[in-house]
Amino acid sequence: MISEKMEKALNDQINAELFSSYLYLSMAAYFEAENWTGFANWMKIQSNEEYEHAMKFFHYLKEVSGRVTLAALEKPKTEWNFPLEAFEDAHKHEVYITKRINDLVELAQLEKDYATNNFLQWFVNEQIEEVASVAQIINKFRIVGDNKVALYMLNNELGSRTGS
Ligand code: FEO
Repeated sequence: MISEKMEKALNDQINAELFSSYLYLSMAAYFEAENWTGFANWMKIQSNEEYEHAMKFFHYLKEVSGRVTLAALEKPKTEWNFPLEAFEDAHKHEVYITKRINDLVELAQLEKDYATNNFLQWFVNEQIEEVASVAQIINKFRIVGDNKVALYMLNNELGSRTGS
């Protein structure tokens, strides 16, 4: 049986993961509007992954006889000045999510909730990948600089991302 405090924290994380999904979908919409279909593709896949993250928490709460309680989602930002700016926001967001996951681990350990601590380890590892993959894309943008042809090629490269 999960504690009330842990249950609330995991419900808050469902909201944070769903917001991540919403934010990346908003970035996808921005890229679609700007005709960067490759960047839009990458963001749509990222948005789907975030939905899957939310569902992992959803199913886990059920497994430990907790109650899922959904709350309102914050309105995501809808405009960016240029493609790199959206990816920089994505990076900041993943750093924030990593901190949230670490705080959840700390709470689980404090509560001696070893099952939840164990469940969260998947997210600890996932966040390493999440932050690193966006950082790698930002590095590519920096190499591309003002070169329009190279930017177009980067858009094509991210357009080849497929779902996991
Ligand atoms: Fe679910 Fe990108 O963290």
